[in-house]
Amino acid sequence: MDVLSVVGARPQFIKAFVVSRELRATHDEVLVHTGQHYDEELSDIFFEELGIPEPDYDLGIGSESHATQTARMMIGLEEVVEEYAPDILLCYGDTNSTLAAAIVASKFDLELAHVEAGLRSFNRGMPEEINRILTDHASDILFAPSERAVDHLQSEGITEKVYNVGDVMYDSLLWAREEAKNRSTIREDLGVANEEYLLATVHRPRNTDDRERLKTIITSLAIDQRRVVFPAHPRTIDRLKRYDLLAMTEEELTLIDPVSYLDFVSLQAGAEVIVTDSGGIQKEAFFLDVPCITLREETEWPETIEAGGNLLVGADAGAIREALANPPQLSSNSEPYGDGTASKKIVEVLNKSSE
Ligand code: UD1
Ligand code: UDP
Repeated sequence: MDVLSVVGARPQFIKAFVVSRELRATHDEVLVHTGQHYDEELSDIFFEELGIPEPDYDLGIGSESHATQTARMMIGLEEVVEEYAPDILLCYGDTNSTLAAAIVASKFDLELAHVEAGLRSFNRGMPEEINRILTDHASDILFAPSERAVDHLQSEGITEKVYNVGDVMYDSLLWAREEAKNRSTIREDLGVANEEYLLATVHRPRNTDDRERLKTIITSLAIDQRRVVFPAHPRTIDRLKRYDLLAMTEEELTLIDPVSYLDFVSLQAGAEVIVTDSGGIQKEAFFLDVPCITLREETEWPETIEAGGNLLVGADAGAIREALANPPQLSSNSEPYGDGTASKKIVEVLNKSSE
């Protein structure tokens, strides 16, 4: 079985490395990096820290408009598929790299497998929602992280080769939680080891491309008495500069560059509350039992809300303030995202489907 795996953005490195490790124990894997994320702290740092092998192909596409970026990725991926002729193409999540891989694979005689299938936020204004729907509908093998994801697929008529394997990010986190204890010194480095602090991230277009929303988020965090550690995505830094909010942010928050995965897991584990608009971080907060305040109106991870540990506040100043004063508390010990063995199950299914 020849597997071609496609990654390109930060969360995909974190999802893929556990599956790749499992897969490479018994199989050959060829890895393609589309180049969607290219800065050292959004890309190389993960390859080094997580021991991900050097990509066999680096398409080096970089930042472009959605159509140009996706189209250029497709052109590059088509050449790779023609040259390597894999049996299976494995893609992850919901980024433009995922969509490009899905469209290319569906035109060739190979099986497309999608990890994190069936998620829906039901907000079609998000580019990720379109990427998810299209990728799922092009896929031959669908690895869902939860029962609800399976139900979403079923309601869209996708019932064949759907497997609820649990969430691969749970596998990654279980490993990282232990590893970070020995390998990360970030809390000491920032001087927050014994401090009550908030951890915040913001990178969604809806929050960063709207000056008022971004300003409301920053000022709502700034008035909290606790220290706020804010590892900022380059897109967010760009908008803070453009909107003339950077100086205020630097003054009020502990603004730092994006950090490695182990450092970020360490920061999450030590935080009193996490404030974010990230998909993956909502789940990691849930796994670590740290209250999460989500700067969005909806989520593709509703189980975290139902379990009590996550609250949707959008970019509403009053709602953020109220949530910071009374953070959501996990009130259920449900395990909606499996038991941390998703990668093993994925490789088992792939092995069977290639027999
Ligand atoms: C992308 C994904 C999003 C995911 C996020 C993870 C899509 C549509 N979006 O969003 O689903 O949650 O990655 O972090 O695929 N930039 C840099 N350096 C980099 C990469 C990006 O400076 O290495 C800047 C560029 O100005 C670029 C902007 O960030 O235009 C946005 O990058 P892009 O990859 O288009 O989207 P993300 O916001 O990172
Ligand atoms: N993350 C990281 N360093 C950071 C911020 C986040 O390693 O400075 C990790 C985080 O632990 C999670 C993933 O990146 O595993 C989430 O990615 P992101 O928020 O960029 O994307 P999303 O999950 O929203 O698609």
